[in-house]
Amino acid sequence: MRHIPRDHDSIKAPSWLLLVSASFALTACSPDKSLYPEERALAKTAFESCLICHSTKEMQRGPIIDGLPAWYSRNQLSMFLSGVRGQNPDNRSEFLMGSTRDRYAGQAIIDLLARYIEELPAKPYHPLVRGDAEKGKTHYQSCIPCHGAKGEGVETLNSPPLDIQEDWYLLDQLRKFASRKRGYHFEDIYGMQMAYTVNALSDQDLKDVIVYIQTFANVEK
Ligand code: HEC
Ligand code: HEC
Repeated sequence: MRHIPRDHDSIKAPSWLLLVSASFALTACSPDKSLYPEERALAKTAFESCLICHSTKEMQRGPIIDGLPAWYSRNQLSMFLSGVRGQNPDNRSEFLMGSTRDRYAGQAIIDLLARYIEELPAKPYHPLVRGDAEKGKTHYQSCIPCHGAKGEGVETLNSPPLDIQEDWYLLDQLRKFASRKRGYHFEDIYGMQMAYTVNALSDQDLKDVIVYIQTFANVEK
């Protein structure tokens, strides 16, 4: 797991956050066990503030994250909080997420949110990216050691599943890795690893690989 950032004292926490911290202290650390009902209620309230961007209810500006494994959300939220991700204004959507740090300002709330997100059933998505799945399959062979043959993800390598999130978001992230808008920070070891793997791929290759991923992902039937 990534180290826990400590340089966020200046970020103001909303009042429910104090409640969450208190509850975390009481129940202590039991990573990735299912949430107790009280924890789930707190997490649900906290997650409400994410839905303005992470659901289709309002204007969706970020990906649907329902069903992402807790370890991955925990990593990402810790990175956003410490500024390893989300502080480059050229990466506008990532910067937007980075500007909401008051909503997950502490390891207790990060842990609660991450476990809550994991409990939400992943939503099937409508594919938008077009390309050549056969060509994409060839390129995908190089992804398998880290992300698995069916995009199931490999926790020990910190490689997230690729079969949950919408195709447009995955393509957007690949483009950002390719242009070093993600995976640029010197502490972002996993992002840099990932960025390195797309060096040899063209934009068409990236689309093709995403279309191959659609063949095993959680797409609408
Ligand atoms: C103002 C809009 C906004 C709010 C509020 C917001 N996010 Fe985000 N979030 C985004 C955007 C946009 C991205 C995608 C960043 C990118 O394109 O690189 C993102 C990315 C993420 C990611 C990384 C997903 C991935 O696969 O890498 C996680 C996890 C996440 N958000 C969780 C949360 C949680 C939990 C909350 C609430 C506590 C929250 N976000 C609140 C806009 C928001
Ligand atoms: C050396 C291992 C490795 C290889 C090979 C690799 N990845 Fe990754 N990938 C990672 C890691 C680690 C991350 C998470 C980075 C982070 O924590 O920010 C990642 C992240 C991603 C993301 C972002 C997901 C999200 O939710 O934001 C996408 C998309 C992705 N990889 C696709 C691919 C594709 C497609 C290939 C093959 C062309 C590939 N990866 C090859 C390790 C790898």
